[in-house]
Amino acid sequence: MTHRATALIRSFNSGSLPSILRADDGNHYLVKFQGNPQGSSVLARELVCSRVAHALGIPIPDFAPIVVSEEFIFANHRSFRDQPSHFIPCPGIHFGSKLVAHDLVGQTYDVMPVAMACKLRNPQALPAMTAFSFYVGNIDRIQYVFCKLPREKRYRATLIDFGFAFGGPSGSIPSTVRNSMLPPSHLIFPQYWHEMNLGWLFSKIEHLDPIWLTSLTEDIPSEWLDDPIVERFRILQALLIRRALVRSQMSEACASLRPRLRSKRIGYYGSKWMTAPPMN
Ligand SMILES: Nc1ncnc2c1ncn2[C@@H]1O[C@H](COP(=O)(O)OP(=O)(O)OP(=O)(O)O)[C@@H](O)[C@H]1O
Ligand SMILES: [Mg+2]
Repeated sequence: MTHRATALIRSFNSGSLPSILRADDGNHYLVKFQGNPQGSSVLARELVCSRVAHALGIPIPDFAPIVVSEEFIFANHRSFRDQPSHFIPCPGIHFGSKLVAHDLVGQTYDVMPVAMACKLRNPQALPAMTAFSFYVGNIDRIQYVFCKLPREKRYRATLIDFGFAFGGPSGSIPSTVRNSMLPPSHLIFPQYWHEMNLGWLFSKIEHLDPIWLTSLTEDIPSEWLDDPIVERFRILQALLIRRALVRSQMSEACASLRPRLRSKRIGYYGSKWMTAPPMN
């Protein structure tokens, strides 16, 4: 469902110069705009990946297209200009990722401190997030937000930022799981990095319906793509072909991790978190 922007909260100086906007459903969204320095196709990749992740049960933020009207830009022109990014979006439809910390309350981290790894509520989701990132050909680093609401004790990892999926602007996608997609030392939970724990996801990916995948690419607003026919085809081709790669590539990656994990003897065992010097 599409929402309309009602207030600018703040802008970020990161790659795509996104802003946090309040929308007419009362929620806050991290909005990536058409015409951003990384290209409007970032929005297309965000939308398609979010829809696929949602269907597969990967923890991602809710999302929605956000309409920014001419009146909104006019009313907030100065505030946009005064933000560190100085980026003033054009009126139109943009991509919104609903903030995981509801109404800006709660605590969020981009990187979880080592000492807090035992406070992660869904460590079993991390390998599934890697498998998904490989499936959609994300060539950027894997990015999470770790969030907890005020009364919660543990943090939930949520996968974000699919701006560089499908090989990003170059479209060149690695066919093997890159080392950088595998767990950093502070987030290793060895018991979950086993292909047997990912069987459910492999089957879901392999059974993604080609007709549904085609409809996803057709739904991308044309103004988000420089060359709609070519880019829709490229995204669809990746989604179709890579369904058959995930099981074998992730199984290989998990197997390659096992000796490393055993020799370092680190991880989360039962209720006890054991730290060790960083790997490499
Ligand atoms: N749904 C969300 N809920 C909470 N925080 C979010 C959400 N989406 C993004 N963020 C925050 O906004 C920051 C910027 O988001 P994102 O990485 O998607 O933008 P970007 O322009 O691609 O940045 P970069 O180029 O640095 O990766 C993230 O580092 C994260 O802190
Ligand atoms: Mg990012």
